Amino acid sequence: MNVTTETSDTEISVNPGVYAIRHHYEVANDFYRLLLGPTMMYSGGYWEPGADLVATLDQAQERKLDVFAELARVAENDRVLDIGSGWGTLLDRLTRRHGAGHGVGLTLSRTQQTFTEELNNPRIQTRLESWDEHEPDQPYDAAFSINSLEHFVHASLPPRDRRKRYHTFFQRVHTALRPGARFVLHTMTAEALPMNQALLSDLKFLQRSEFEGCHIPHLHELTWGTEGLFHVVEIVNEREAFAAACRAWLERLAQRRDEAVALEGEDVVARFERYLDIFAYTLEDGFFNNFRITLEHRS
Ligand SMILES: C[S@@+](CC[C@H](N)C(=O)[O-])C[C@H]1O[C@@H](n2cnc3c(N)ncnc32)[C@H](O)[C@@H]1O
Repeated sequence: MNVTTETSDTEISVNPGVYAIRHHYEVANDFYRLLLGPTMMYSGGYWEPGADLVATLDQAQERKLDVFAELARVAENDRVLDIGSGWGTLLDRLTRRHGAGHGVGLTLSRTQQTFTEELNNPRIQTRLESWDEHEPDQPYDAAFSINSLEHFVHASLPPRDRRKRYHTFFQRVHTALRPGARFVLHTMTAEALPMNQALLSDLKFLQRSEFEGCHIPHLHELTWGTEGLFHVVEIVNEREAFAAACRAWLERLAQRRDEAVALEGEDVVARFERYLDIFAYTLEDGFFNNFRITLEHRS
C-alpha cells in the first residue's frame, strides 16, 4: 500500500488525504454495525413503497446489490472490481450469489480491510489502495463504485483540474476493464441552488470537518470525464433512496444511542447525527442528487 505517514502536498492537491478518509471510516466496526445493520452497506437502499425503513433495511440493501449485479451483467467466474469497497458486502454477494470468480476491493480504511478479511471469503481480496494506485494483473469483467467517488477528488482544485481528475478516474477504470464490460457507478452530485446561512454552515461542516477536502461532483464534470471512454447505458436519479437510508441509520442510532455512545463517545455520535441529518435533508430538498450511472466500455 502506498500510504505515507504524513499527508503530502500531492495528496492535498489531488486526493483528499488518507487521514481525512480514516477520520470517518476508522470509527470502530462495532459502531458501524450498530448504525448500518448486518449488511454493512453505507449507501442508498431499494425499499418497497411504504416499507418500514428500519425493519427492512437489510432487504433494501440486498435488493440494490442484486440490481447492480444484473446491470453489470456479472456472469460465472467473472473478475470484478469494487472501487471504494466499504466492508466488502457487494463483493461477498457477487461471489456467493452471482457466480463471480474473483473480486478485488479498494479501500483506504484499515478497519474495513480487517472486517472484509474476517468474512473468510477466499474469492475476495481487499487492497488498501487508492483508485489511482491500482494496477490490475488482468482486465476485469465488471466494475462498481458505490458512493465513493465523492471522496476521490480534492475540493480545493480549480474546476479545470477537477474535471481532469474525473477524466483520469474514468480513464483508469476504462483501462482496468475488458472491451464491452460495464461499470456501474453510484454517486451523489451537487446542484446549484439558492443558498441560505444554515445550508452554508452545514456544507462547511461537511467539507471542512467530517469529510475534509471531499468534493461532491457536478454531473457535467462526470459527463466530461467519461467522454470517448464509455457509452452511457442508463442514468437514474435515486436521491430519495439515499435519503431514506440516512433516515434509517438515524433511527437505528436513536434507538441504540446509549450503546453507540459507550462504543465511541458522545462527540462521535453527535458528529454522525449531524452529518446524516444534513445529507438526509439536502437529498430530500434536491440540493444533492444521487445518480446510478451504468456505463459500457468503448473500445
Ligand atoms: C461511503 S463508503 C461506501 C462503501 C461501499 N461502497 C458501500 O456502498 O457500502 C466510501 C468508501 O470509499 C473508500 N475510499 C475513499 N477514498 C478512496 C480512494 N482514494 N481510493 C479508494 N477507496 C477510497 C472508503 O475507504 C470507503 O470504503
